Amino acid sequence: MLGRIIDVFDRRLKFKEDFKKNVLDHPVPQRINLTYCFGGISFLLYMLLAATGIAMIFFYVPSVDHAFVTVEYITFDLPLGNILRGIHHWSANIMIVVLFLHMLRVYVYGAYKNPREFNWITGVVLFAFVLAFGFTGYLLPWDQKAYWATKVGVLMPQSAPVAGPFISKLLMGGDQLGALTISRFYAVHVAVLPIITVVFLVGHFLMIRRTGIAEPL
Ligand code: HEM
Repeated sequence: MLGRIIDVFDRRLKFKEDFKKNVLDHPVPQRINLTYCFGGISFLLYMLLAATGIAMIFFYVPSVDHAFVTVEYITFDLPLGNILRGIHHWSANIMIVVLFLHMLRVYVYGAYKNPREFNWITGVVLFAFVLAFGFTGYLLPWDQKAYWATKVGVLMPQSAPVAGPFISKLLMGGDQLGALTISRFYAVHVAVLPIITVVFLVGHFLMIRRTGIAEPL
């Protein structure tokens, strides 16, 4: 059935041949090993995070009064909600470890050197985005741990000279952690970061296509 649907499109758009040439027959270095999978696994985890995150958007309410109860609802009452939240939570944690391994592979194999410097730079930016996902997501359950941990985090920049107090205030949306903090963190977590991350991922992947994957040492 699926094959026939694909054929209907392929007879008109002729994408099967391109797919074979560009994806299945794409040359990769000969002595490639398992450490080359960490980038792909990071991407898979990102997709899992996006899918489970989108599913939770339908039930989570980002307000001081509702955040905690809606997270409780997702965890204890929503059918398969605990699995949904669990996959989101563990994918986020595992992604940090896998990304670290990906960076380690790139570093040890010297794959950050000419002509791949820009790939390393987009990678560093992506890593910062992933950490920002973690920081903004941590507040969303609005429980004691989330509140106090985020309070420490947003007050940290305050001790930096000149722009420090402004940055703290910008993050909190005022002088206290409250309604504006949660809506800002939510907006950054579900809209700003996903969009800019996808832009950088596209750049990362296009550059890999252009330069090819680095040979093992
Ligand atoms: C969401 C984050 C990221 C994803 C999904 C991702 C994905 C990938 C994929 C699929 C590859 C192809 C080869 C491989 O898998 O090893 C790759 C290559 C590369 N990545 Fe990443 N990456 C991410 C973050 C990073 C970070 C944090 C760095 C370094 C700071 C980085 C630097 C590079 C470089 C330099 C290459 C080229 C390596 C080569 O040609 O052998 N990436 N990335």
